[in-house]
Amino acid sequence: MQDNPAFTFVLFGGTGDLSMRKILPGLYAAHRTDKLHADGKIICVAREVMDTNAFVESVRSRATGYLKQPADAAWDSFLQRIEYLTIDAFALAGYAPLAQRLHEAQGICVFYLATAPALFEPICNHLAASGIDLTQARVVLEKPLGTDLTSSRKINDAVARVFAENQIYRIDHYLGKESVQNLMALRFANSLFEPLWRRESIAHVQLTIAEELGVEGRGEFYDATGALRDMVQNHLLQLLCMVAMEPPTSLDADAVRDEKLRVLRALKPLTQQDVEQNAVRGQYASGAVRGSPVAGYLDEPGIKPGSHTETFVALHAQINNWRWAGVPFFLRTGKRLPQRSAEIVITFRPVPHAILPLPAGLAGEGANRLVIKLQPDESIQLHCLAKQPGDGMHLQPVVLDLALDKVSPRHRAEAYERLLVDAIRGNLALFVRRDEQEAAWKWVAPLLTAWDNASLPPKSYSAGTWGPASSSALLYRAGFTWPEES
Ligand code: BG6
Repeated sequence: MQDNPAFTFVLFGGTGDLSMRKILPGLYAAHRTDKLHADGKIICVAREVMDTNAFVESVRSRATGYLKQPADAAWDSFLQRIEYLTIDAFALAGYAPLAQRLHEAQGICVFYLATAPALFEPICNHLAASGIDLTQARVVLEKPLGTDLTSSRKINDAVARVFAENQIYRIDHYLGKESVQNLMALRFANSLFEPLWRRESIAHVQLTIAEELGVEGRGEFYDATGALRDMVQNHLLQLLCMVAMEPPTSLDADAVRDEKLRVLRALKPLTQQDVEQNAVRGQYASGAVRGSPVAGYLDEPGIKPGSHTETFVALHAQINNWRWAGVPFFLRTGKRLPQRSAEIVITFRPVPHAILPLPAGLAGEGANRLVIKLQPDESIQLHCLAKQPGDGMHLQPVVLDLALDKVSPRHRAEAYERLLVDAIRGNLALFVRRDEQEAAWKWVAPLLTAWDNASLPPKSYSAGTWGPASSSALLYRAGFTWPEES
């Protein structure tokens, strides 16, 4: 890993939404906090014909609203790093000016492919064929990396013909979130939790990524994708790995990724019975989110009439290893839920023999829960029981609350900022390795097949609710409840 190298960052899909909403604002945040070498250049590439001035003006009008920091003089100096090249990704001839620019450039080169995956193969081939020296280069791949195991293998094979695995940075932006990093710190820097972090002490684990938003103008993409491919195969399974993995021997990228891979490979394969009983697929109907009426999924632009695409998934997963055998992991994600929130709830087993009466509502459930909130606020809360002050011996729930943004109010890097800086510096630890990605596709495959071919529609839920009733039933059958129901 290099400290702060000179670089050329080549952004394919430079005029796209992702570039304007996340990538350029992320690079700006890094620029503003002095994480980018003064000689770092950003070459944005797309098919549209325009010059650098016109492109920079379009960045000003389209990206400024997404900046997390003020658009002051630093924004102007950031924009001076940008150059624009018109390239049709399919036409080799167009790559010559890029090759020429890179030939003259200093430092390392990062190619960021924020395009449709169908372009990954031609772009990689043309970069190689245009004589660019790729030996020190890195390539960052945006999701979706395929729609199943076969298509993701095809993409990975194509990229691997040009770049070695240690040059390939597969983005899962959840891994760049501050709180996910903090989960590692919590687990591996404290001796307190490790003895409890296992089946003997933990009753169940819940991972929720809830969104208020609907499909937001991405109807066509989303309808061909669905929540299982969009959120579960990647973000939720990566979070599950962070919770369940063994302590790696170091923070070296492959040491961490080896441990995550072990978790993915230990996931109990989903059987037909699991598909029927341990998985819920839902689709939102019209309703209200935070008091505002919203349309149902089938009425959103770009959605096929009668579409069966799921906007909600709840799953009961099991990990077949010594640490976790028998501990249910419940995964859930959905669009148009009541609030935007992502959290991990680890519920510890109840005391073996209760000599004190439990407060109402806690009967049966463990009173001790570790709640790791990823967003919108970041916090770690340990739920305990304490005595109510005064006469008698009555218990009350209390919370040890670590509000992380208040503990260290310094600049907190957003996920994209952190990952972009890591790609430039050559740190692969927060990027997904090919074998991890393929193990995740393999695990979800029985659900993909069953749901792609299902004749029945997904269960309907009203927008603004926590998904279909069968999601509550999934936990109820195992003897638990979701946090909002307890
Ligand atoms: C993306 C999905 O990967 O993650 C989107 O494609 C989703 O559908 C988004 O909205 C959620 O990310 P975050 O960071 O806002 O929780």
